[in-house]
Amino acid sequence: MDLMEYQAKELFAKHGVRTTLGRVVETPEDARSAAEELGGVTVIKAQVKAGGRGKAGGVKLAKTPDEAFEHATSILALTIKDLPVNRVLVTPATPPQEEYYFSFLLDRSNRRYLCIASVEGGVEIEEVAKTNPDAVKQIPVDPGTGVDEAKAREIVAEAGFPEALVDQAVTMVQALWTVFVEEDATLVEVNPLARLEGDVLEALDGKVSLDDNASEVRHPEHADFVIRDEEDPLEAKAKDKHLNYVKLDGEVGIIGNGAGLVMSTLDVVAYAGERHGGVKPANFLDIGGGANAQVMADGLDVIVNDPQVKSVFVNVFGGITACDEVANGIKGALEILGDEATKPLVVRLDGNNVEKGRAILDELDHPLVTQVDTMDGAADKAAELANANQNG
Ligand SMILES: Nc1ncnc2c1ncn2[C@@H]1O[C@H](COP(=O)(O)OP(=O)(O)OP(=O)(O)O)[C@@H](O)[C@H]1O
Ligand SMILES: [Mg+2]
Repeated sequence: MDLMEYQAKELFAKHGVRTTLGRVVETPEDARSAAEELGGVTVIKAQVKAGGRGKAGGVKLAKTPDEAFEHATSILALTIKDLPVNRVLVTPATPPQEEYYFSFLLDRSNRRYLCIASVEGGVEIEEVAKTNPDAVKQIPVDPGTGVDEAKAREIVAEAGFPEALVDQAVTMVQALWTVFVEEDATLVEVNPLARLEGDVLEALDGKVSLDDNASEVRHPEHADFVIRDEEDPLEAKAKDKHLNYVKLDGEVGIIGNGAGLVMSTLDVVAYAGERHGGVKPANFLDIGGGANAQVMADGLDVIVNDPQVKSVFVNVFGGITACDEVANGIKGALEILGDEATKPLVVRLDGNNVEKGRAILDELDHPLVTQVDTMDGAADKAAELANANQNG
């Protein structure tokens, strides 16, 4: 899970990283009151899970509470990288004298952590890495030993922090490491890490990605970071029903049992789509083994409610859950959905009790259901129907 800036800063504060929390608000009126309470000059910052907010007009300085109101009005009307801005952070303006970049991340391919630091931060670090690669230091961190004070000093020296800030930077690096480890993060990034007036080092921005695998068991409190209105509604619904669903950007809805089968179904559908107007898989949905009618109905419910979906491909290989149970599941699902089911369904059943399963669907004789015996044939049919549906 990626956090918003204000949430990242809450974790920073919790672990002793120097930062200023400010107030998160959802209306221009509340932005004005927040600015009044904070007093002085404030900065109004769009809270969206996307980078480049400043460039998009999502970070503005407000000299008065009325200006905070005006900026909040315009920022709350913005869409940044397809994400509508629903809240803004109102925080005291603390003009940076210099801006640095700092991050810890999980380096999967090398099975260790990586620290990236640069005293040329503030702008896009990718740009600095391209134009002046020597200015961006990459320091590997051994997961076994982590970051103690000595390692923090090594990092700070390598990055080249100004002499006057070295001790503060060492403390900051250790605190950021604590955030990274204690919260089970896969990314902790500060850009800019700012040198403020009077040589104070402070995190002016924050980006944190939490490891969902750890969150469920080790950090139930991370659930509080979920903001319902910021989630994709279909993904939220699937999560509520404990479905293993990932929304993709195509037209053919896919349901299968077993992650491997679903992955290969995505491939054959993408391949078949090349013959049918370039349609693509609309999602990944694995209903797992032992799926009953209700699970099938839940899955279909999520998929048919995706407006992008033009046809659905149900690809099931009967194992512990035999094909006749799956067929009954589809039958039950169509009954549960009733008039909500309007999209063509291509069903391919194989494996345990396949004959019985096919017979049940033959008997059902539902106008939306087409049975195809092979996976390739069914993918082709589903792609053809999706293409016909999107053109008509
Ligand atoms: N509290 C503040 N006071 C003064 N200036 C600020 C403050 N917060 C941010 N700024 C200035 O605004 C710039 C952009 O802010 P910030 O890094 O938060 O957004 P961004 O970099 O545009 O967004 P993202 O990090 O998502 O790409 C900073 O580099 C800094 O110069
Ligand atoms: Mg930033």
